[in-house]
Formats: sequence, C-alpha cells, structure tokens
Amino acid sequence: MSIWTEAAEIPLTGGDVTDGVVRVGRTVRRPTRPSTPSVHALLRHLEAAGFDGAPRALGIDESGREILSYIEGEAAVRPLPAYAVTDAALVALARLLRDYHDAVADFRPVGAIWEDGSNCGPVEVIGHCDITPENVIFRSGVPVAFIDFDLARPTSRLFDIVTTLRHWAPIADPLDRDPLQRTVKVGPRLRLFCDAYGLSPADRLRLLPMARTRFDQSYLSTRHKAETLGGGWATLWANGVGQRIRRAAAWLDANEDLLHEHLI
Ligand SMILES: Nc1ncnc2c1ncn2[C@@H]1O[C@H](COP(=O)(O)OP(=O)(O)O)[C@@H](O)[C@H]1O
Ligand SMILES: [Mg+2]
Repeated sequence: MSIWTEAAEIPLTGGDVTDGVVRVGRTVRRPTRPSTPSVHALLRHLEAAGFDGAPRALGIDESGREILSYIEGEAAVRPLPAYAVTDAALVALARLLRDYHDAVADFRPVGAIWEDGSNCGPVEVIGHCDITPENVIFRSGVPVAFIDFDLARPTSRLFDIVTTLRHWAPIADPLDRDPLQRTVKVGPRLRLFCDAYGLSPADRLRLLPMARTRFDQSYLSTRHKAETLGGGWATLWANGVGQRIRRAAAWLDANEDLLHEHLI
C-alpha cells in the first residue's frame, strides 16, 4: 500500500449523529468523548472473550481521535436492502445479540463513564443500546457485527432487546417504516427473535410494556440531547424523530393485544 493510500481519509456517512467519522486504511477514526476509555475497555473485554462481532479498540491517533478496526461488509443503511428485512437476518441478529450479552455478562468495569441514557429493568450487562440498521454490519446478507458503541451503558438484557426490536421487528407505525418493512408481520417476528435469542417466558411478558415505557423515555431524552448538544441530535429532532416516536407509541397502544398473542 502506498503512503498516499494509507493517509487517505474516506468519510463514512452511514451514521447520523457523529461528525468526522472517517476510514483510514483498515481503521476507522472517530472523535472521542468522555465515555471513550470505558467503551475501549468494553471492546477489549469482547476481544478477550472471543466475541468477533465488534470493532477492536486500537488506541488514540495523533489527532486525538479513537482508532477502531474497520469491519468489512455493509452497514444496513436506509432504504433497507431486502436482505436486511428477512426473517433469516432477524434470527441471525438475535443470536448475535445473545452472543454479545453472554460475552459481556462478566464485564465489571470499575469507575467507568458511560453516555447518559434511559434504562428499564435491573442492571445485568453493559448493553449496546443502539442497534439500529446503520450500526449493524452485514456480509453476504448476514449480520456479523455491531459498530458504534457510543451509547453503551449498564442496562438489562431485555432493554437492549427492546431497543433492537424497535428498529428491526420493527415496533413502528407503518407510515414510518422503511418501504420493505411496511408489510412485515411484526407479531411473528417478535416471536422469532425471542426464540432465536432464547428469551425466558417472563421476559417475553415484560417486552411490550417495556417498549411502551421506552418510547416515553426516548422522546424526552432525544429532545433533551437536541436542546443541550445540538449538532446531529438537533438535526434528528428537526427531521421529526419526536413525532415518529409518538406515532410508534400510538401504534403499539393500538396493536399491543395482538402482538401479545405472539409472546405467550
Ligand atoms: N468499525 C467500523 N467498521 C466498518 N464501518 C464502520 C465502522 N465504524 C463506522 N463505520 C461506518 O460509518 C458509519 C458511521 O459510523 P458510526 O460509528 O455509526 O457513527 P454515528 O455515531 O454517526 O452513527 C456507519 O454507519 C458505518 O457505515
Ligand atoms: Mg451509528
């Protein structure tokens, strides 16, 4: 590889929040934040545990940016490709999340700093807490890795599952879904995910109430971030994320009994 190729910085624009994410050779450079040392400890724990579905933490570069390994493949950016909305992809995603939770279960950092965010249920793991399509890397139509651990924080496994299903079942008003997600059968997909993850019957009963609570929390916390942090958060808010959360909550209220049938 020539010096020029190595030095080239290629903007990565799949995300919607962090400015200045670039690829440099086989690495990604991102701005640091107060939680970066804790996130790197998390990524090192995952590496030691043999979990391959996350970037490796490679330190800080001469410009003060974090260095992560670049994961080959495609992030499932919108509009979602057909392979990202299949039942097979959902099953593989559930297994990947289960593997992540099992790998992180014995990670007990001392004095860690995590990004603020809502939480429901007992603290069991450091959850990823942001498993959107843009933060999942696919290879040959199969989800192989999570990226963007910026929102990782102590939470329950179920909260991480609920956050994931919000985007992937999806628990969303059809109006706001990606075109290929508009006609999917959400109830059967919830069951499929729970079966592939191996979720307990008790947690299945808590899933929809927690999703409902989470909508109220994420409405307030996203608005707060837009007001206090501005930047990508303010753009998200200006683009109507608050109204989408409100519509999703109303859709869940209207469909909760039907969805519940698939979780018993
Ligand atoms: N480690 C990585 N490997 C491969 N692609 C990455 C990696 N990190 C980021 N990307 C790409 O860059 C995009 C934006 O990065 P991300 O870390 O998700 O930033 P944001 O905080 O803005 O969501 C992702 O959607 C993905 O396409
Ligand atoms: Mg992202």
